[in-house]
Amino acid sequence: MKVRYYSFFASLNRPAVALLLAGLAASCNQAGKTETTTTATTPAATASNKADWWKETVVYQLYPRSFQDSNGDGVGDLKGITSRLDYLKSLGVGTVWLNPIYASPNDDNGYDISDYRAIMPEFGTMQDFDALLQGMHGRGLKLVMDLVVNHSSDEHAWFKSARASRTSPYRDFYYWWPAEKGTPPARYSTFDVKHDAWQYDAPTKSYYLHYFSKKQPDLNWNNPKLRQEVYKIMRFWLDKGIDGFRMDAFQFVAKDPSFPPIPNVTESNFANSYNHGPRLHDYLQEMNREVLSHYNVMTVAEGAGRNVTEAMLFVDPARKELNMTYHFEGVGVGNNADTYQLTDLKRVFTKWDSAFAQKGWQAIDLGNHDQPRMVSKFGDDRPAFRAPSAKLLNTFLLTMRGTPYCYNGDELGMTNSKFNGIADYRDVAARNAYTLLKQQKGDEKAFFHTLARFSRDNSRTPFQWDDSAQAGFTTGTPWLNVNPNYVTLNRAAEEKDSSSVLHHFRRAIAVRKQHKVLVYGQYQLLDAANPNIYAYTRTLNGEQVLVVLNFSSAPRTWALPAGLTPTGQPWLNNYPTAPTGPALALQPWQAVVYRLR
Ligand code: GLC
Ligand code: CA
Repeated sequence: MKVRYYSFFASLNRPAVALLLAGLAASCNQAGKTETTTTATTPAATASNKADWWKETVVYQLYPRSFQDSNGDGVGDLKGITSRLDYLKSLGVGTVWLNPIYASPNDDNGYDISDYRAIMPEFGTMQDFDALLQGMHGRGLKLVMDLVVNHSSDEHAWFKSARASRTSPYRDFYYWWPAEKGTPPARYSTFDVKHDAWQYDAPTKSYYLHYFSKKQPDLNWNNPKLRQEVYKIMRFWLDKGIDGFRMDAFQFVAKDPSFPPIPNVTESNFANSYNHGPRLHDYLQEMNREVLSHYNVMTVAEGAGRNVTEAMLFVDPARKELNMTYHFEGVGVGNNADTYQLTDLKRVFTKWDSAFAQKGWQAIDLGNHDQPRMVSKFGDDRPAFRAPSAKLLNTFLLTMRGTPYCYNGDELGMTNSKFNGIADYRDVAARNAYTLLKQQKGDEKAFFHTLARFSRDNSRTPFQWDDSAQAGFTTGTPWLNVNPNYVTLNRAAEEKDSSSVLHHFRRAIAVRKQHKVLVYGQYQLLDAANPNIYAYTRTLNGEQVLVVLNFSSAPRTWALPAGLTPTGQPWLNNYPTAPTGPALALQPWQAVVYRLR
């Protein structure tokens, strides 16, 4: 497939902006070009429909910095989350994934960790963490933590020691290139102002490697001592009772320490070049043997593999590595807002479903903390369409095969925010891209236009609890401005309105929990070429449902395929009345789930 994502940003003549703004979306799937989509045939019991708790759960991704502030400093914290556990429980989600809460100087909002066994003081203490975990488990909620071990912070004790002397016992925890060998072979960094992944460090006259910002030096996984340290950290948290890990940027950990030249490594191909380095799967199998196999926990890899074949290597149960992976190709499709087509989205999700039909498992998501808001990208966030389109997108997430990942605020249909100039942005990616733009005297208007749509800060604005000052998030000044639409778009208002996005979200989760066909059932795309309607069936053990989604802001008619006859009331519908056949007259963004047999 053509990864339009890049051509879009390239048109700004600012090639670096793409990944900086929107994370690593799409970059890992360029090899998708050669892939074909096959239709799954599901035998009675495949490895994919073997029951597991992490397949049946719904994951709620919670961004701690923006969820609930408990002490008025403008930063969300653990006590704040604990005070909202009844709300999380009321949603029906089973698992909460917390973005990093470890000690960090916050160059990249916690993805630069200075102590893997300590809680970031802004977020609270270890006692607060223990109380949070206990509060979750007491309510039957599971907790998954982010594991960020492609890199640490440059303020981690290991790095401080490593950079002080070439003979430090921690020197080989990182990658160094001694200056006497000349300039190191080019490597691209996504967050570095100059996109140079090598940073010269005077004390030892050497360069260190950083795929992300220069405050995020890459850890050396070739070193068995480093790997053992990581396993100890994992056991530390697992022994506290957490229920799994989301593995950050893990596809990048394996590197050839001789650093052979990578010709023309750029923003558009760096992820492909870095992906799947030597021994990556040896490391994962070792980690599984030494740590994961001793606990009943779930693991999910961010963006594993350049294509479905490589992704399978992470999650094929016979290989004993990880449980599931989430791909960037889905969120990436929508990143070219000017030419985005529903048929692209259908093709991508169908291809990934087919690839995992017989074995392995995947996550289903349309947004996260590295992406703009899903309703602003895949739906229509204008007042008339925001609620129905957010409900449609949640219906999609909760009726696909795979574990749904719902990003906090999407259950309310929160939208992209409003930023008035660079001072309103907080993301290292946005700030460094702007520094480069200024140096290059680039086109500011185009830059801000793109940033407004794609900045990661769009999804990081504070959670909108109610219509009081700062949306009930804080009594102080929030670290990132609240989206001005909180006055009408907030949890309290949606709680009172039984037709709200929030209530629809709860209903959709309840339906998924009640009907295993929505978890394990075979997925079959219908009417692939239709540019407005995304329709599919799910089938399990003689039970069959039909999902019909009008992905457009206009009414559409869709003829029921011969032989598909809905029975009884729809399981889900985001409008008061449901269309009936043979030609379904669908309202804008109408989403209906029918039982067929
Ligand atoms: C992942 C995270 C992103 C972070 C990056 C570096 O892509 O999701 O937020 O900036 O890794 O750790
Ligand atoms: Ca706080």
